[in-house]
Amino acid sequence: MAENNPYPGENNTGHFWDDNLRELTNPPPRWWMIAFWASVAWWVLYAILYPMWPALPGHNVDGKEFTPGILGWTSIKEYKKGVEQVEAVRAQYDKQIAGMTAEQIIQDPGLLQYTLASSKVLFGDHCAACHGSGGQGNPGYPVLADDDWLYGGTLAKITESITNGRKGAMTAHVNILSDAEIDQLANFVAGMSQGGKGSEADWALFNAKGCVACHGPKATGVIAELPNGEIVTVGAANLTDSIWRFRPGGYESAKHTITYGVNQPGVAQTRNAVMPSFAQQGKLEGRLTPEQIKMLTVYVHELGGGK
Ligand code: HEC
Ligand code: HEC
Repeated sequence: MAENNPYPGENNTGHFWDDNLRELTNPPPRWWMIAFWASVAWWVLYAILYPMWPALPGHNVDGKEFTPGILGWTSIKEYKKGVEQVEAVRAQYDKQIAGMTAEQIIQDPGLLQYTLASSKVLFGDHCAACHGSGGQGNPGYPVLADDDWLYGGTLAKITESITNGRKGAMTAHVNILSDAEIDQLANFVAGMSQGGKGSEADWALFNAKGCVACHGPKATGVIAELPNGEIVTVGAANLTDSIWRFRPGGYESAKHTITYGVNQPGVAQTRNAVMPSFAQQGKLEGRLTPEQIKMLTVYVHELGGGK
């Protein structure tokens, strides 16, 4: 073939296809060769510096099944360094928070932001199962993201709720009141939830049957208001607003609560309403540090706040 090469003086290999398609022996372009050798050099350098080759069986280096590289880099070490950096930043904040009251934290925008972000996780782990992920409540569990409080929404009251837990109690009236009286009181409560004010006879019954002792003289759940603005309650619901503690609310719901009460031992149909204690030395459920309770107090307060 080479003897009758129709393209003499050209670096072709003598292979032709379709008459004029031919293979040349030109060297690749210079830039290409530079890139090629650079990548080979990079590869060799990488093998020396970083973990790379699987070790032959029985030839492990430091118990590892690969060559470790002279830098000693591992992805685990890099990850741990990252975690340490994050923890160092957190430790600074946590130290500050430990020495401050909840009131002081709320006044410091940076700490407040950190506290809210951290407690969102805490809230998800410890509280959301009952109170909903944004504190919006669940059937049987109170809403925390409003300003309607059973026990009070000041920082002190919220701390108390989380630390000691809560267990509201309401008498079952099934053997105390007549059907007619229960009917009248349930109508009274259902009416007030829709803006009604209740008749004189309703209020007389409310007072005579002892509802007033827990729900307060105005049926708002507030027994007394102290000069410093704190409220005295036993956790009795506000019966004058449209927020229902026990769903679905309305006449039947109110009737059920009045008849069977709340947390009454031995009453099968009683409403259950138990908030566990989260104090570390408290009951079995206890598992939050005072710092964590402080942060959650701030979080819940910022959700709802007020009295
Ligand atoms: C097992 C369910 C449950 C868990 C978990 C729980 N709670 Fe509660 N919580 C309740 C119930 C039920 C009540 C109402 C108690 C009552 O009616 O007497 C309540 C009441 C409260 C109150 C008082 C509300 C008011 O209106 O005064 C606060 C504050 C509160 N919870 C915060 C929290 C926080 C913060 C967490 C997480 C650390 C948490 N709860 C975890 C069930 C729970
Ligand atoms: C010993 C105190 C006590 C007495 C007495 C009492 N209650 Fe209650 N009541 C409560 C508490 C506490 C709650 C809220 C329970 C909770 O959330 O844990 C409640 C809740 C209710 C509810 C449910 C409200 C809702 O939003 O779902 C109604 C209705 C109610 N009471 C009506 C009455 C009436 C009417 C009387 C009088 C016959 C009365 N209560 C007597 C303590 C009491």
